[in-house]
Amino acid sequence: TPNAIFHNEPFTDFTIAEERDDFLQALSNVKSKLGAHYPLLIGGESIYTEQRELVSLNPAEPEQVIGYVSKAGQEFAEHAMQNALSAFTLWSAVPAEQRAVVLLKAASLLRIRKHEFSAWLVYESGKNWAEADADTAEAIDFMEYYAREMIRLSETSVHQPLTSISGEDNKLKYIPLGVGVIIPPWNFPLAILAGMTSAAVVCGNTVVLKPASTTPVIAYQFCKLMKEAGVPNGVINYVPGSGAEIGDYLTLHPKTRFICFTGSKEVGLRINQLAAQTENGQIWIKRVIAEMGGKDGIVVDETADLPAAAVAIVNSAFGFQGQKCSAASRAIIVESVYDEVVSRIIELTRQLKVGLPEQNASVGPVIDENSFEQILEYIEIGKEEGKLVIGGEKVEGSGYMIQPAVFIDVDPKSRLMQEEIFGPVLAVTPARNWEEAIRVYNDTEFGLTGSFFSTNEVRIQEALNRMHCGNLYVNRKCTGALVGAHPFGGFNMSGTDSKAGGHDYLLLFTQAKLVSRKI
Ligand code: SER
Repeated sequence: TPNAIFHNEPFTDFTIAEERDDFLQALSNVKSKLGAHYPLLIGGESIYTEQRELVSLNPAEPEQVIGYVSKAGQEFAEHAMQNALSAFTLWSAVPAEQRAVVLLKAASLLRIRKHEFSAWLVYESGKNWAEADADTAEAIDFMEYYAREMIRLSETSVHQPLTSISGEDNKLKYIPLGVGVIIPPWNFPLAILAGMTSAAVVCGNTVVLKPASTTPVIAYQFCKLMKEAGVPNGVINYVPGSGAEIGDYLTLHPKTRFICFTGSKEVGLRINQLAAQTENGQIWIKRVIAEMGGKDGIVVDETADLPAAAVAIVNSAFGFQGQKCSAASRAIIVESVYDEVVSRIIELTRQLKVGLPEQNASVGPVIDENSFEQILEYIEIGKEEGKLVIGGEKVEGSGYMIQPAVFIDVDPKSRLMQEEIFGPVLAVTPARNWEEAIRVYNDTEFGLTGSFFSTNEVRIQEALNRMHCGNLYVNRKCTGALVGAHPFGGFNMSGTDSKAGGHDYLLLFTQAKLVSRKI
């Protein structure tokens, strides 16, 4: 029920034999379904575009097709927009509590089919078991959390009481915006997609969902689940397609009321620019919610628990191959303990086994060939800019696998320390003291996550004030934000600081209407 207290979905304990067996079973079930054809989903209709399809591949074994996915051009994007517009009239009138109940139903269905969804993530996005399991758990969390948030938002007299004026009855109500375009990323292809979509929908909006081109099959599974949970036809319209062709078209569309995007800085800025234009017939300023990149870092001073810091750096740098926007791609370490932390980082990195996600290797492939090539280019750049102390080679085989790479003695102004690489590449740099280390940490256009490792309370307090990022952690890794506990979103070029999984999030998908009545 929406009134129950929110709890995070627990992660699966894969040391338990039964859990492992269940997961293996789910992997084998999903494997038997690979290579199917998927339609667009528009207004309850399944539309196959046989002549035009996206081919989703397993990045660990690109000869294995995950699915052939129908690809929308502008005509189908328009069709989806028209369906979303007409569904808005009905869906926006459904009471908040009822919409929340649909979300809770979806969460409970996903909980039942958790391993199945995680198995799709393993094959389509190259996540190992724990990463896939965490992605699915986070999707459940988002739906549970936003369902409760919708209820809370609809009870404004409780959470946002107005000043009382005699002779008046004043009420504030949060109403939906209209049709939103949802453009989620491939790196949390279930969690972030579910979060963005369910937040929009629970507020009474309808959406045109353009999934990431590398992970459209898991997105399809999610849309089917939402339908099964009772989301009416036309509320979520699934239209895979290219950014240049339909992403721009939908962003520019005069009936688009908001765009909710998570992805690269370049695409985010383009969306922001296109959305700022006013098209013929457009009667609003479009709202843009954009979560973009990061150049996140971990600062370690000489009082820190050094073994713990090294573990956190390696986990944050190489979990899911460094492809989290929260990933630590920089480590800034005070000189006097630099050598010790560096040797611990190298040792831990050496222990990472690169291999198939299906077999639960700690490190798997990067998402596609493009990304693979780009990361390898950065590794070449790194060899000029710093000293490669471990990794950086391609791994034998057809998959897009790269040995996690650690560069040391990298200049804070170098490309490796400034540009988002989105792969298993860590740049390490020394700093004279903790204050200089914080200055280096802040020397970036991004501001998503950061960690400060120290046991000195005065410094910790200073770091909390000075380190400029949306999600700042102390003495722990900088990835793995939990819904409800760590509202997530960054500063500067990291985006609009929309704080997914926090109390402020649904406000972005609503507008407040004040009604003052004379009594
Ligand atoms: N929310 C994820 C994390 O904290 C990143 O998107 O790792």
